Amino acid sequence: MKFFVDTADTADIADLAATGLLDGVTTNPSLIAKSGRDFLEVTREICALVEGPVSAEVVALDHETMMKEAEILRKISDNVAIKVPLTLDGLKTCKKLTDDGTMVNVTLCFSANQALLAAKAGATFISPFVGRHDDNGFDGMALIEDIRLIYDNYAFETEILVASVRHPIHVLESARIGADVATMPPSVIRSLFKHVLTDKGIEGFMADWAKTGQSIG
Ligand code: G3P
Repeated sequence: MKFFVDTADTADIADLAATGLLDGVTTNPSLIAKSGRDFLEVTREICALVEGPVSAEVVALDHETMMKEAEILRKISDNVAIKVPLTLDGLKTCKKLTDDGTMVNVTLCFSANQALLAAKAGATFISPFVGRHDDNGFDGMALIEDIRLIYDNYAFETEILVASVRHPIHVLESARIGADVATMPPSVIRSLFKHVLTDKGIEGFMADWAKTGQSIG
């Protein structure tokens, strides 16, 4: 499963990219606003920090203006994936862009039928929002299971990009189901490294090692 980070904070992205475990980045208008940075400038900077796909979202709601915005965004770098909302105009834009060889991430997916439409529109990635699904009394991970089943039934190549991830269990369940990508806030990625028994084990080994009076090298 690929790991994307869901942020426009370049310091966090650089820090996580240094682990060698980061496969891409997703942003959205809310994350750009949170960064306080110029959209095009920060997207350019992020594209230089990672080799994998960097999702940059259009803000227009109609197809023609979406295409104009996508035209500007895709010129930033070869690793830009244009993010479009799951609407009729968004999917029309998706079809046109992917037919042209541009990566597209279809976002704000809340049903398996929407995911089916995105795959038929040739989406590179579909982003089902599991956290927001859970928040509203639905089962986010059941949605991922349904999409996996449908995509496998028809051998769709669209990658399931689990979004709105809130905690490590979402990541674990995504991997169990066989999602292709999980995009996570930096805090969730960092929490995956941690285990209380790992810390306790290190503490014990260090204490015992100190008793030997030895050093390596
Ligand atoms: O990037 C889209 C998605 O991950 C947003 O997450 O936490 O705002 O529901 P959230």
